[in-house]
Amino acid sequence: MAEMWQLKPLLLLITVLLVVCTAAGDGGGMPLVTPITKDPSTSLYIISAPVAENDQITNHLVLDLSGPFIWSTCPDGYVPLGCTSPACMHAHRFHPPNCPHTGYGKPDADNAHRCKCTAHPHNPLSGDTASDDMTEFTTSVNTTDGKNPLKEVSFVVTTSCAPESLLAKLPENAVGVVGLARSALALHAQIARTQKVAKKFALCLPSGGGAAGVAIFGGGPLFLLPPGLPDLMATLVGYTPLVKHGKSPGYFVRAEKGIAVNQARVPLGDAPLIIGLSSTIPYTALRTDVYGAFIKAFDAATADRARVTPSVAPFELCYESTQLGSTLLGYAVPQIDVMLQGGKNWTVFGGNSMAQVNDHTACLAFVEMKGKYKRAPYGGGLTEAPAVVIGGFQLENNLLVLDEEKQQLGFSSLLFGRRTTCSNFNFTPAAS
Ligand SMILES: *[C@@H]1O[C@H](CO)[C@@H](O)[C@H](O)[C@H]1NC(C)=O
Ligand SMILES: *[C@@H]1O[C@H](CO)[C@@H](O)[C@H](O)[C@H]1NC(C)=O
Repeated sequence: MAEMWQLKPLLLLITVLLVVCTAAGDGGGMPLVTPITKDPSTSLYIISAPVAENDQITNHLVLDLSGPFIWSTCPDGYVPLGCTSPACMHAHRFHPPNCPHTGYGKPDADNAHRCKCTAHPHNPLSGDTASDDMTEFTTSVNTTDGKNPLKEVSFVVTTSCAPESLLAKLPENAVGVVGLARSALALHAQIARTQKVAKKFALCLPSGGGAAGVAIFGGGPLFLLPPGLPDLMATLVGYTPLVKHGKSPGYFVRAEKGIAVNQARVPLGDAPLIIGLSSTIPYTALRTDVYGAFIKAFDAATADRARVTPSVAPFELCYESTQLGSTLLGYAVPQIDVMLQGGKNWTVFGGNSMAQVNDHTACLAFVEMKGKYKRAPYGGGLTEAPAVVIGGFQLENNLLVLDEEKQQLGFSSLLFGRRTTCSNFNFTPAAS
């Protein structure tokens, strides 16, 4: 009886603690904000992560929507992660063909008392894959109320090391890749776990010229300048379900009704089109069958516009830009509607369809995909390539919300229509 008496207050205390912890884990954290810059020579997008263990260093990392984890070259003296950690198990879901199955739950080949975790970082530009140790470092990112950065928080991220040779084709100052795919080790998933925020992020890629775009991890709101614009995350044009494509950890959606140019459906058959998102290709790539029909449709819809021939590679349809006329949404060219599952259109206007290649020439900025089949870099054999992979130029100045909890993509359409751009986040600290 006496024992019971003593237990009761203890149980009560435990109950109270549990309740408090659940409340904090229930989205109790603050979203984080980080600038995104565009590298002018490669057209790749970069985020920068200070490394707390070495306050001389800020890691510049290429953003990869299809990358399942974060990798970078490692400093001397880094501490390898043990192979029995849960992070190691996650890393091993992404095992390329022809790589030995070491470094997961097995002792090292050269030391039976050690078991380091090995991962297989992949460079999406060169197509190369390496094998190297997993490790951790501490980085800091600012919290945000959606309007300004508030204060820095530090947390540990699990990453893979990579040999210097894996940096081929990355921007000169980049030391690795930050994966944002659908994986437990992607940056947004690690932020969701450590910061107790939702597993979702908003991505607003800049069009370059030095001004940074913005990414927000963990939920809204998001306000861009000028002051007075509503929360952009709450006023998106549409949402569409995320779907799987083969074994790829990247983001895919379905165009149930295909694509239309100038309100006329491009003849592509009745099967839904699988559409991928890529932050590492500069222009949207269309599978050969889709490309042919699409170019023909755009060509017909612009028959009365003055062409520039020969066209400027890699593009096929080029126009005298002075003859195109311009609108708030870019050159006045036929709009392209991607008719997505769920009934909403992702509409591409001139600002995202026409690339200015020189002073007087603008070209339809879509390219033909090479190869009808793709080998997934992390195994799974050959898969038919998606019909469309939307690339950087078409994503710029559009807000995307990638929500893994709801398994959906939210999209804003070209922000020029809202009289703003992705480079209008106010990165100066809030006035106090
Ligand atoms: C946080 O925001 C402040 C104020 O804008 C900025 O000076 C600082 O570099 C930011 N920190 C990080 C880690 O981005
Ligand atoms: C989507 O685009 C098609 C083709 O232009 C058009 O017919 C349809 O009305 C659009 N749907 C919505 C919901 O805007």
